[in-house]
Amino acid sequence: MRRKKSPEELRSYKWYGVRDLRSFGHRSRTKQMGYSSEDYMGKPVIGIINTWSDINPCHTHFRERAEEIKRGVWQAGGFPVELPAISLSEPFQKPSTMLYRNLLAMETEELLRSHPIDGAVLMGGCDKTTPALLMGAISMDLPAIFVPAGPMLRGYWRGQILGSGSDVWKFWADKRAGLIGEREWQEIENGIARSPGHCMTMGTASTMTSAAEAMGMTLPGAASIPAADSNHPRMASASGRRIVEMVLEDLRPSEILTEQAYENAVTTVLSLGGSTNAVIHLIALARRSGVDLDLRKFDEFSRRVPVLADIRPGGRHLMEDFYYAGGLPALLERLRDLLHTGCLTVNGHPLGENIAGAEVYDDAVIRRREDPVSEEAGLAVLWGNLAPDGCVIKHGAADPNLLQHRGRAVVFESYNDMERRINDESLPVDESSVLVLRNSGPLGAPGMPEWGMLPIPDRLLKRGVRDMVRISDARMSGTSYGTCVLHVAPESFVGGPLALVKTGDYIELDVPNRSIRLDVGDEELERRRAEWEPPEPRYHRGYGAVFSRHVTQADRGCDFDFLERGAAIPDPEI
Ligand code: FES
Ligand code: MG
Repeated sequence: MRRKKSPEELRSYKWYGVRDLRSFGHRSRTKQMGYSSEDYMGKPVIGIINTWSDINPCHTHFRERAEEIKRGVWQAGGFPVELPAISLSEPFQKPSTMLYRNLLAMETEELLRSHPIDGAVLMGGCDKTTPALLMGAISMDLPAIFVPAGPMLRGYWRGQILGSGSDVWKFWADKRAGLIGEREWQEIENGIARSPGHCMTMGTASTMTSAAEAMGMTLPGAASIPAADSNHPRMASASGRRIVEMVLEDLRPSEILTEQAYENAVTTVLSLGGSTNAVIHLIALARRSGVDLDLRKFDEFSRRVPVLADIRPGGRHLMEDFYYAGGLPALLERLRDLLHTGCLTVNGHPLGENIAGAEVYDDAVIRRREDPVSEEAGLAVLWGNLAPDGCVIKHGAADPNLLQHRGRAVVFESYNDMERRINDESLPVDESSVLVLRNSGPLGAPGMPEWGMLPIPDRLLKRGVRDMVRISDARMSGTSYGTCVLHVAPESFVGGPLALVKTGDYIELDVPNRSIRLDVGDEELERRRAEWEPPEPRYHRGYGAVFSRHVTQADRGCDFDFLERGAAIPDPEI
């Protein structure tokens, strides 16, 4: 049993408990809001960081959920305080929510620091919100629990099940190839997203909320519950009750997020066939925790972790099916021998205890170890003269015939350049070409958007070509697929070798041997490097300028250099 904190030991005591002039203000102003001293005095103050917004469809239910979390906080004897934070709406924000992940991370940390908060409930789910909230909470290191938004229900169209992202790409290609018309396209628009919640494929959202659960930051089973299921609000209330106890027990992220916990997250993400974006986010999170997690570990683990979740885009089912099949605890129980089961979780119990006896109800969705989706996870890290600091490929979602490939580069300077020329009749392209997109990395784009799945040129598409080798310093949506080499580091914008490729150069991709090479002699490369001129920074003012000055490359997690490592920041004194 852990010793319980006394009211005088609470962080918020400095605001409410002491008898000075400032605390008079805090008390009288709390009363101004209609609360009596019985509501807040001596109680753990719980900050609920809510990433709701009117333009984030994945978090539509967060206004209600915040109330349900508060109900739990009240029940357990805490004082709930809702703090709104930037929402990061994946479908709407340009150029990329990735540009703003670090802003939400900073906002989370500073909201917690500057207010009289003893513990935090983090409400997120749509792609970048999960890593951002966790990054901020790790740096602040107050007791914190994550409430995942939950996946939306399956999409439906004329009796077919539709998945977010993946099926948009698929039917868009069908539409361009003339296989479906405007009417079908319109019906798909009406049926593909039909409830609150984040994308229900194994995109970045489901990948990262599942990683958060595997790391021990959510209540057991929380990440798989569909947003529209009434188990979801009950999980929210239970999280509210639990955070109050966590404050009294002083159970902080630093105790939960150990090196072993991060290894559990990597194993989980790989076994889910999760998004490549998780590589960047988990590295960023680990560095905040002072844990060494680098690209090599993903590659190493990927060779021995089987994919068990048969979920789109790599598999056949959706998150709703995954929940009915037993959800994440059932999958983790099947991976028990690959996990560090002694890792502590937010409910105060080790992971191994939380998942003990969790059953799988549908072996088609959560596959048996003897019958995995694939023996190896589908993620590889490649090195070579084109990516000295590494790059990644989700080869499980690629055409196996392209994994060892030599072809001529077709280079695009930017996304706009690609859009302008990709269907140009004079473009020297055939199915053996390697499409190269530069200036789409953290600084070049900026914000490293999900441009990595470059479109197949129309004329090749019409001939039935569905995959080609594509290389960029961009990311790719977790719901995308194809032979896309991503996250090339260093990026072209800062003079990485991707900047030196010319149309017509040969590029060699060799995934089994983890290599990516530009077949151009060193001398010639040196000559090109000497000619290369660094471009102007994209932003000269505002948040963009801060981003431009401080964002790190993909292999370091794209965090800000001044936020990566912990350093004591004093609490406000007066
Ligand atoms: Fe929010 Fe996909 S758009 S998770
Ligand atoms: Mg996405």
